[in-house]
Amino acid sequence: MSAVPAEPLAKPKGIKLVIVAAVAENGVIGRGDALPWRVSSDLKRFRAITWGKPILMGRRTFESLPRVLPGRTSIVITRDAGFVPPEGVLVAGSIDEALALGADEAKRLGTDEIIVMGGAQLYAQLLPLVDRLRLTLIHGRPQGDVHFPPYDAAHWREIAREGPHQGEKDEFAFTYVDYERV
Ligand SMILES: NC(=O)c1ccc[n+]([C@@H]2O[C@H](COP(=O)([O-])OP(=O)(O)OC[C@H]3O[C@@H](n4cnc5c(N)ncnc54)[C@H](OP(=O)(O)O)[C@@H]3O)[C@@H](O)[C@H]2O)c1
Repeated sequence: MSAVPAEPLAKPKGIKLVIVAAVAENGVIGRGDALPWRVSSDLKRFRAITWGKPILMGRRTFESLPRVLPGRTSIVITRDAGFVPPEGVLVAGSIDEALALGADEAKRLGTDEIIVMGGAQLYAQLLPLVDRLRLTLIHGRPQGDVHFPPYDAAHWREIAREGPHQGEKDEFAFTYVDYERV
């Protein structure tokens, strides 16, 4: 018996899907379960961009966080039916389910955005549907074993760029760059 092909993913109507990621010059986004750098300015920007919005994340990224992020609705994607989330955190067993939950939450929170906040597995699966990339380009080549998925620059138009910056608590200089799908 041949396998039934998976239905292509569909983005909920009226929703903008936004990837937020910090990516080093060598494409690295993670080392093991952690970020391979300390850039505290970027954490502040991440908070500002994601505040009041649903944030989708893979189970590994969720478990790498020190605590549930306040002021946003976390939606954790896992195939583990036994995963028990902390209070206030939503769980989805598939990307489709996560997008449906995200759309409901976006409506409830009064936003039209769903943030895709990683990690690499989530970025790779959702990149084809995403409207906007909000990247922090980390000006360094740290060692790491988790990478941002390859993307075709021809499909993306740069709409904003700010930097480079480097604050006192930032291990690397960085530049914020936003792209919109062409
Ligand atoms: N630099 C950045 O901006 C940034 C942002 C976020 C994360 N990170 C880094 O990225 C790394 C984690 O990324 P990762 O790619 O290893 O893991 P991940 O994407 O965070 O999580 C992967 C997990 O998500 C679940 N999953 C993925 N696709 C699914 C699907 N279609 N249906 C149901 N469940 C699904 C599975 O959970 P189960 O195994 O439970 O089934 C899978 O093991 C860490 O190093 C983290 O620090 C970096």
